[in-house]
Amino acid sequence: MKKIFTRSSVDPGAKENFLNETLFHNANGYIGVRGCLEEGVPNGTDTMRGIYINGFYDIIPMKQAEMLCNFVDKKETMLNIADTMTVNCVVDGEIFDILTGLVIKHTRTLDMEKGITKREVVWEAPSGKQIEITSVRMTSFEMLSLFSIEYTVKALNFEGDVRLISVHNPDVTNYSDPSDPRLAAESMRNLDVKDIYADGESSIAIAQARTSGLRVCSLVHHALTAHDGAAVRSNATEILGKQGVYTGNVHLGKGSSVTLEKLCLFSDSVRAREPAGRAVRELDTVLSNGLPYYYKKQEAYLKEFWSNCEMEIDGDDDMQNAVIFNMYELLQSAAKDSHASIAAKGLSGEGYEGHYFWDTETFILPFFTLTNPALSKMLLRYRYSTLDKARENAGLLGHKKGALFPWRTITGTECSGYFVSGSAAYHINADIAYAFVNYYITTGDLAFMREAGMEVLLETSRLWMDLGCYNENGDFVLNVVTGPDEYTCMVNNNYYTNVAAKYNLCWTLKIHRLLREAGLLGDLDEHLGITDEELAGFGRAAEAMLLPYDEHLGINPQDDSFLSKPVWDLAKTPKDHFPLLLHYHPLHLYRYQVCKQADTVLAYFMFENEQSRDVMIRSYEYYEKITTHDSSLSTCVFSIVASRLGLKEKAYAYFGDSAKLDLLNTHSNSMHGIHTANMGGCYMAIVNGFAGLRVTEEGISLAPSLPKDWNGYKFKFVYRGRLLKVAIDKEAVTITLLAGDDLTIRVFGKWVGLEGKREKRIQMEE
Ligand code: BGC
Repeated sequence: MKKIFTRSSVDPGAKENFLNETLFHNANGYIGVRGCLEEGVPNGTDTMRGIYINGFYDIIPMKQAEMLCNFVDKKETMLNIADTMTVNCVVDGEIFDILTGLVIKHTRTLDMEKGITKREVVWEAPSGKQIEITSVRMTSFEMLSLFSIEYTVKALNFEGDVRLISVHNPDVTNYSDPSDPRLAAESMRNLDVKDIYADGESSIAIAQARTSGLRVCSLVHHALTAHDGAAVRSNATEILGKQGVYTGNVHLGKGSSVTLEKLCLFSDSVRAREPAGRAVRELDTVLSNGLPYYYKKQEAYLKEFWSNCEMEIDGDDDMQNAVIFNMYELLQSAAKDSHASIAAKGLSGEGYEGHYFWDTETFILPFFTLTNPALSKMLLRYRYSTLDKARENAGLLGHKKGALFPWRTITGTECSGYFVSGSAAYHINADIAYAFVNYYITTGDLAFMREAGMEVLLETSRLWMDLGCYNENGDFVLNVVTGPDEYTCMVNNNYYTNVAAKYNLCWTLKIHRLLREAGLLGDLDEHLGITDEELAGFGRAAEAMLLPYDEHLGINPQDDSFLSKPVWDLAKTPKDHFPLLLHYHPLHLYRYQVCKQADTVLAYFMFENEQSRDVMIRSYEYYEKITTHDSSLSTCVFSIVASRLGLKEKAYAYFGDSAKLDLLNTHSNSMHGIHTANMGGCYMAIVNGFAGLRVTEEGISLAPSLPKDWNGYKFKFVYRGRLLKVAIDKEAVTITLLAGDDLTIRVFGKWVGLEGKREKRIQMEE
C-alpha cells in the first residue's frame, strides 16, 4: 500500500487550514516548515506561519509573581526564524487567493515514500480565467539545511501574463495565545535582522536572537523555468526594507506553465561558526547537484527507513494509514545531529515552545531503538551532553550530589516555570536511565555504556540517594515528588517514581558489573568517584524501596495519600470542561482522585515484573475509571497494558484513540503541533501491546494477539545486529530472521530457534 496521506477540500475553511498547517508540515529533524499556504491566509484567520530550527532558541524572562529561592527566572524558547515560503501569483492583475474567485480543486498530499508534500489547486479568478497551481515542498534528509519549493502555474483556459512574487522575510515573530498555558503567552520579537542583501538570484539574511546571541542565516535562491511555449519576460531580486523580494513576469499561452524553484538554505551558529558562509557553500552544492538529485536521495533515504520499520495492517486501511503517518512524523521530528533532540511537537509548531520532555526517552526512543538504534544512540548522546547542567539543576534544588535532568528544556537548563508539575517530576531521571538501559539491552552496545550510560545511571542513582531516606519501618521512601499524572502533585512515594528509581538503581549496579566483567571499567571508578560502599548503598535502597500497596483494594495506590482523597465525579463533569486543566485551579484538582494520564498503569508496562497479574488488573480497572486522558500520553499506555492483561477490546479501543489523535484533532490542539509522544506510544501499542514483544536481558519474547477486525499485521525490528520480521494472522505467527546471526526467542512462552531467512510458523494461542 502506498504511503500517502491526502486531503481534498474545495472550501479550505480557516479552521481546517490551521490544522493542515501541522499535518502537512515538512521537517527533517533540523528544520521544520509549517504547511502554510504560500499566498498567506486572509486577515483575521488563524495561522502559525513558522519555520523552525531544532535547538535554535532565545532566552526570555520567566515572570514569577513571587520569586522564591532558586526559582527559574528565564527560559529557552524555540524561535520562528524566517518566512521563506511566501509566493504570490497575479493573473493579469488578479491576485490568487482562495477566498476570492472560485476554488475548483484543492488537494494536499503528503507522500511518505518520496518525502514531499504537494498542494494542487485549480482556481478560477473573478474574471473567469482558470489556473492550476502545483506546489511541491521538501525538507531534505540528504542536505538537512535545504527546504525547497517548486511552484508551478499553468494557464488552463486563457493566454495572458502571470506575475510571481516570492518573499523572503527574516523579520518574523512567534505565535502566542495567552489563554492556553501550552503556548507562549506573549507575541515575541526576539530576532533582530542584522543584514539582508541580494546576490544575483539569491537573498541572504542574517538575524540574531536578542538574548542568547545565537545567529541564523536564511538564504533563498530563485530560478524560473518556462514550459510549453511560455516566455519569461523579466525577473529580479531586490531588497525592500528587511525583506528580499523576487519578481518574475511570464507570458503564458493556453496550456503552458511556469515553475518557480525556490531553494531555501538555513544555517545557525549552534552548528556553524559562520552561518552565512555555510549557507552559501551549501547552496553551491545544491545548485551543482540540482534539485532532482535531492528528490532521488530523499526517496532512497526513506526506502531505507521503511525497510527497517515496515508496518502493515491487513483489513484496516484507516489504521494502517494512521500508523504510517505517525511513524513518518517521528522521523521528521527526530534531530539528525547531536545538537538537539525531539520536541514534544517535533518541528511542526510552537506548542510547548520546542521543549524536550520525558516524552523523548519514554515514548519515542523505544521506536527508534527497535528500528534505527544509531539514531537512538545519538539522541541519548545529546542527553548525556547535558549532564553537567543536570548536576547544576540538582544543586539548585538543594541536592548535594547527583544530577537531575530538567522537566522541559532545549539545552539542558530547566525551562519549566511551574515547578509543582515541572521540576518536581523527578521521574524524568529514571526515564532517561531506562532509555539508556533499553538501548543497551536491545543493541548489546556495552561500549556506549562505558562512554555515557554508566555516568548517567550513576548520577541519577546518586540523586535518588540524596532525595530519598529510610522511614521508621526501614523502607526507602521518596517524598514530595510529582509522578507522570499531572493532576496529582507533590506527593510521597508515587508508585511509578519509586519503581522506576528502583530499576534505575539496580541497573546502575548491573552495568557497573558488566563493564567490570568485560574489562571495560578502566579508570571509571576513580574518575567518577565510585566506591564499593556507594554501590552497596544503591543495592540496599533498591531492595528497600517502598512500593505502595493497599491491602483492602488489592491495588497499588498512586502514592501514599491518593486513596484518602475523594473521587472526582467524571460523569457529572460538563463535557466542555475538559481538559480539566483549562477549567479548574490546579489545587482543586490535586485534592481529588482524578488522573490526567496513565501513571501507575504506565509502571505496569515498563516494570511489569514487580506485581502479580491480579494486582495489575484490579489497579487497571481502578485507574481507568478516574483517568481523563487529558494528556495525549495516556490512551496509548492504556492500550499496551490492556493487551498485556488480555483485555483485548479495551486494547483496541484505546489504540484507535491514540492512532488518530492528530489526524482527527481529538485533543483540539493539533493546530499547534503534532503529539510526538503519542505517536511513539501508538507504535508501542502494536509492537509491545498487540504483538506482546518484550526485549529483556533474557532475550526476545512475543505473545501476539490479533485485534478482532484485522486479518493480520506485520512489522520489522532490529535486535543486536539482526533484522527480524513478524507476521501475525488468524492462524499463526510467522517469524523470519532477515539478517544476522541465528537466534532463539520465546513465542507464547516456548523457545523457538530462528535461522537465516527461514520462516518459523507458530500456531496462534487464545
Ligand atoms: C503531559 C506531560 C508531557 C507534556 C509534553 C503534558 O500535557 O502531562 O506528561 O510531558 O504534556 O508532551
